[in-house]
Amino acid sequence: MSAKKITVVGAGHVGATCSQLLSQKELAREVVLVDIAEGIPQGKGLDQWESAPIEGFDARVYGANDYESCEGSEIFIVTAGIARKPGMSRDDLLKTNAGVIRSVTNEIKRVAPDSIIIMVTNPLDVMAQVALETSGFPRERVIGMAGVLDTARYRSFIALELDVSIEDIQALVLGGHGDTMVPLASYTSVSGIPLTQLLAQDRIDALVERTRKGGGEIVSYLKTGSAYYAPAAASVQMAEAIVKDKRRILPCAAWLQGEYGFHDLYLGVPCMLGENGLERIVEVELDEEERAALATSAEHVTSTVSALEALQS
Ligand code: APR
Repeated sequence: MSAKKITVVGAGHVGATCSQLLSQKELAREVVLVDIAEGIPQGKGLDQWESAPIEGFDARVYGANDYESCEGSEIFIVTAGIARKPGMSRDDLLKTNAGVIRSVTNEIKRVAPDSIIIMVTNPLDVMAQVALETSGFPRERVIGMAGVLDTARYRSFIALELDVSIEDIQALVLGGHGDTMVPLASYTSVSGIPLTQLLAQDRIDALVERTRKGGGEIVSYLKTGSAYYAPAAASVQMAEAIVKDKRRILPCAAWLQGEYGFHDLYLGVPCMLGENGLERIVEVELDEEERAALATSAEHVTSTVSALEALQS
């Protein structure tokens, strides 16, 4: 199962890595890389296509500056914007990226009104809301990528700590991206064994803290950019679940309409992804502490939305 066409908007680090993974996994017949920078998407697209004979994939990958090439795309992975620099908070990116997302979304709506948008640009909970409002798409077709990345980071650290296969580690992370994420200890297990039986609480707390700061850790190493291998892998996993109608349950940012007690905001929750995009939101039991942490996370998203509204008024 594969799509006819998937477009990645933004041919930077995250976007180009997404198109490479989409092509190598043959998730679409055509993979289009779009960017405002002249020559960049064309050059990266052609370079990736030239790897096809070696990697053995038939997905036609190419770049463009216009949106005519993306007409009829089933999925758009949106990574356009500016990336976080050292010392810059996610919220600093707010105004610039909101403008970018508005213009990108208008183009998506024009050339592919039935498509599904996977929002990656940060601050992504808010950028997903900008895309939802600009497009007028139903919530099923505008989903944010965050939880899959946060969960992957958490799982990768647990695997290192216990020196076990990452294949056996299951975890669930809710809430906003990064600093306010809410890892659910009771839903984390290694081959079904609760993590709490394998690791002392202070070690679990340390891994949670490292996960929360996972994006910043990469930024502090790279200095001139932010993470892209894991963010791209997470975005492509979501696209794969949709294209193959896998009905996987993955933590994603979804527009809540009463779920978990919240209305009209994007927050990371377990989502079933299938051919229609967001098939349904799964509500899990939370203890008091987890509910309070989720509320803090929601407040952070709401205050960022208010900050954006203030910047624009
Ligand atoms: N339309 C299309 N592309 C755009 C637009 C636009 N209006 N504005 C900027 N871009 C492109 C830039 O030209 C650049 O190539 O978006 C790309 C962003 O790439 P990078 O700067 O390399 O950023 P990257 O590391 O890929 O991160 C992109 O993903 O994880 C998030 O926080 C990250 O918001 C950031 C996004």
